[in-house]
Amino acid sequence: MNGYINLSVAPKAADARRTAAIKLYGPDAFEGMRRAGALTARCLDGVADLVRDGTALAQIDVFVRDFASAHGAQPATLGYQGYQYACCTSVNHVVCHGSPTGKVLRNGDIVNVDVTLILDGWHGDSSRMYVIEVPGLAAERLIRVAYEAMMQGIAAVRPGARLGDIGHAIQSYAQSRRCSVVRDFCGHGIGQVFHDSPDILNFGRPGTGPELREGMIFTVEPMVNLGRGDVKTLADDWTVVTRDKSLSAQFEHSIGVTADGYEIFTLSPTGRHSPGITLRPTSA
Ligand code: MF3
Ligand code: CO
Ligand code: CO
Repeated sequence: MNGYINLSVAPKAADARRTAAIKLYGPDAFEGMRRAGALTARCLDGVADLVRDGTALAQIDVFVRDFASAHGAQPATLGYQGYQYACCTSVNHVVCHGSPTGKVLRNGDIVNVDVTLILDGWHGDSSRMYVIEVPGLAAERLIRVAYEAMMQGIAAVRPGARLGDIGHAIQSYAQSRRCSVVRDFCGHGIGQVFHDSPDILNFGRPGTGPELREGMIFTVEPMVNLGRGDVKTLADDWTVVTRDKSLSAQFEHSIGVTADGYEIFTLSPTGRHSPGITLRPTSA
């Protein structure tokens, strides 16, 4: 298998730790990811009905907790490395890992809600941008660029392509639209482990990095800023913000590599890819 371990059966945790090889999964794993991904997507659809002027971030967290338990799932972030919440809510210049506490959303805010639900051991990890009533023109443009950057990265996925092709597609799209990508965070392998190898970088050179193969499962989750790409983590040790206070946006899908391309496990069943914004195939 040329350095890859084939895992159509469940890996032991120790296997994952011993090697940074990229796992290859079979049909049962794809079915597990399909179910977990669909549940996460339905949860993010539900968040759309909740988010409006006056919604407290804590209400989103309660909704995600309740949704998970009503559907026999667990939020993967709850207790993850000490994180205490069922989701991340990253508002305006918060890049990622914002805690769903304190703030009440107001007209003009933009917020990324990132949910990972574990269903029967499989992790469905996805995030979307939500706008509160009327977003500013710059905010709406940023959201379109971030969404399209994710989709361009996903479109580069097929057996025989390389990891660097994904990062290159993301980076070149975002930069061509005068936005920057965040280099300090990346997508990741996923499956029965929340964060697995490989890292899916949001920048790269075409034709470089490991070759993609049918059966790989990972997330694509670019963070795109209107200003510079530099970020810092606040004193709470979680909240990541843009250094220049510029707006930041992110989308995330969990996907699998198929024989001729990819399958997205976390598509919105109701087409609410970015609630509040009508996304067209060639946006921005
Ligand atoms: N869901 C995030 C991701 O896309 C990870 C959040 S970890 C947390 O990988 F601890 F901050 F919740
Ligand atoms: Co992720
Ligand atoms: Co996520």
